[in-house]
Amino acid sequence: MAKHGLPLGIDVGGSGIKGAPVDLDEGAFAAKRMRVDTPVPSTPDAIADVIHGIVDHFDEVRGDSPIGITMPSVVTHGVVRSAANIDKSWIDFEGEKLFEAKLGHDVVLVNDADAAGVAELHYGAAKGQKGLVVMTTLGTGIGSALIYDGVLIPNSELGHLEIDGYDAETRAASSIKDKEGLSYPEWTKRLQRYYSHLEALLWPDLIVVGGGVSKDHEEFLPLLKLKTPIVPAKLENKAGIIGAAWLAAHK
Ligand code: BGC
Repeated sequence: MAKHGLPLGIDVGGSGIKGAPVDLDEGAFAAKRMRVDTPVPSTPDAIADVIHGIVDHFDEVRGDSPIGITMPSVVTHGVVRSAANIDKSWIDFEGEKLFEAKLGHDVVLVNDADAAGVAELHYGAAKGQKGLVVMTTLGTGIGSALIYDGVLIPNSELGHLEIDGYDAETRAASSIKDKEGLSYPEWTKRLQRYYSHLEALLWPDLIVVGGGVSKDHEEFLPLLKLKTPIVPAKLENKAGIIGAAWLAAHK
C-alpha cells in the first residue's frame, strides 16, 4: 500500500524540474519520479506553477507533507542569491516565501549540491564518514557541498574557485567536456588540476563525485592522483531530490 504524507523532493535545474515523494526510511523514491521541462524564461512564477503541478500529481503527498526544493543557486535563509543557470530575476528573490504561499506546504529551499551532499551523507557514499567530506557535482556547472562530522556548511560554491585565471567550472564541468569534445583522459587533466587545488585548500577526509557523469566514474576517477580518497556518489541523479526531502523533513 502506498504511504501518505511523505516529504516531497523537487530538483530545479536549468533544463528540467524533477520531483518525487521520498521514503526516508529507505532513502529512496516512493513513487516514479515526475519530470517537466524547465519553463523559458525560468522566472519564479513560472517555476512555481510547474512545481504546483508536480505536487498535485502525487497521492503520497498530503497537506502536511514538507517540500524540499533545490535550486542551482546560493540560498541563504530562503532567499535565492545567485542565478548561474536560471533566470536572473531569481537574484535576491524570497523563494521559500513564494513557494510556501503558492503551495500551502512548509518548504525548504536549498542549493542543489548541498542537497546532494546531505543525501550521500545519510544514504550513500559518505554514510558514517567523520571529518570533512567535500561533495562535488559535475554537470552544467560544478556544485559543491561541505560536510563536517555530519553537519552541512551550506553554500560553499567551490565550482567557482579561480584556477589559472579561469572560473573552475568553465574548464572542468562535464558540460565543458561535451561542448569541447574532450576525451576522458583530456578532461581528467582538468579535473586533476581542480581536485589537487581543492585538496590543497581544504585537506578533506573524503571527496565524493556526483552529477550525471559519475555513472562513468571508471573512465576518470582511477586516473586521478590525489592524497584524498575520491569515490563516486551512490545516489546518482536521485541525490538532489532525496536530500531536499530529508532537509524538509528535518527543518
Ligand atoms: C552554481 C551553484 C550550483 C552549481 C551546480 C553553479 O554554477 O553557482 O550554486 O550548485 O552550479 O548546479
